[in-house]
Amino acid sequence: HAADAHRTDLMTITRHVLNEQTKHPESRGDFTILLSHIVLGCKFVCTSVNKAGLAKLLGLAGEKNVQGEDQKKLDVLSNEVFVKALISSGQTCILVSEEDEEAIFVDPALRGKYCVVFDPLDGSSNIDCGVSIGTIFGIYMVKDKNEVTINDVLQSGKNMLAAGYCMYGSSCTLVLSTGSGVNGFTLDPSLGEFILTHPNIKIPKKGKIYSVNEGNAKNWDGPTAKFVEKCKFPEDGCSPKSLRYIGSMVADIHRTLLYGGIFLYPADKKSPDGKLRVLYEVFPMSFLMEQAGGQAFTGKQRALDLVPTNIHQRSPIFLGSYDDVEELKALYAAEE
Ligand code: AHG
Ligand code: MN
Ligand code: MN
Ligand code: MN
Repeated sequence: HAADAHRTDLMTITRHVLNEQTKHPESRGDFTILLSHIVLGCKFVCTSVNKAGLAKLLGLAGEKNVQGEDQKKLDVLSNEVFVKALISSGQTCILVSEEDEEAIFVDPALRGKYCVVFDPLDGSSNIDCGVSIGTIFGIYMVKDKNEVTINDVLQSGKNMLAAGYCMYGSSCTLVLSTGSGVNGFTLDPSLGEFILTHPNIKIPKKGKIYSVNEGNAKNWDGPTAKFVEKCKFPEDGCSPKSLRYIGSMVADIHRTLLYGGIFLYPADKKSPDGKLRVLYEVFPMSFLMEQAGGQAFTGKQRALDLVPTNIHQRSPIFLGSYDDVEELKALYAAEE
């Protein structure tokens, strides 16, 4: 039976990526090696997050990161694990992490052709209360392997080759796109393998959920305020939308991808560029949304068209179901 075949046809993430790499046969090996090291990092963080409460990994590490945020032990640990795993893969030449002020240029002896931008632990303010957190990553190809400069990671999101996130929640789920659709894999702890559980994810064209931190409403601009107002008091008499906001981008995006709806982190008077970072939060999630049939908008332009000028640059972001983002875009267009 198909079901049985499905059960025994364990499509692991590594096999799936190898199959997908038919488009770039020349880099099948290198890309698959890079991805297997990212997967290794995710497995490690997954076990560390699950044990955090027991291993007293909770609480602050005492230092502040470049974002001026208190670094929690798991932030620091996750960052070190990913940096080491990525460098040892021999496939990377530049790394950008939320937790490191400067980009990391890999030693030429270990250099490969990929640049990886990542948020080792997203939603870290939720660690101590057990709410889902995650890792977000994006992969660029270096322009010239012999001439590696910071401009190799200041590329527009539309040049991204692949992007994904791993969510450490009730199960450990890795969602990935290498440019031909989005697939979800769930970690089977007994096998230590990520198994394909959500093939070819497509986001519903329209959703019934909006996801925003309403606590910032006082500072929103006109179009955002008007959009949220319409979610709560629809003019065309249909039922209001539900508000779901977890405060962990990975968890909020995962729900949006599967259930539909729109996620908003708008600019506000306090932070005119919003809070989320372009390279390792906005771009990877926008890439995934577009690959799943949704869209991502900054309030001014298609998010993936942005060209960052610094590695920790922020941008407002509105992403999710195609029709929902269209409605928001119309409000910003009317404002112009
Ligand atoms: P990080 O923990 O990597 O710094 O990211 C936190 C981000 C993101 O996960 C989430 O969407 C957002 O912070 C929530 O911000 P607010 O608490 O301001 O709503
Ligand atoms: Mn942070
Ligand atoms: Mn983050
Ligand atoms: Mn983070």
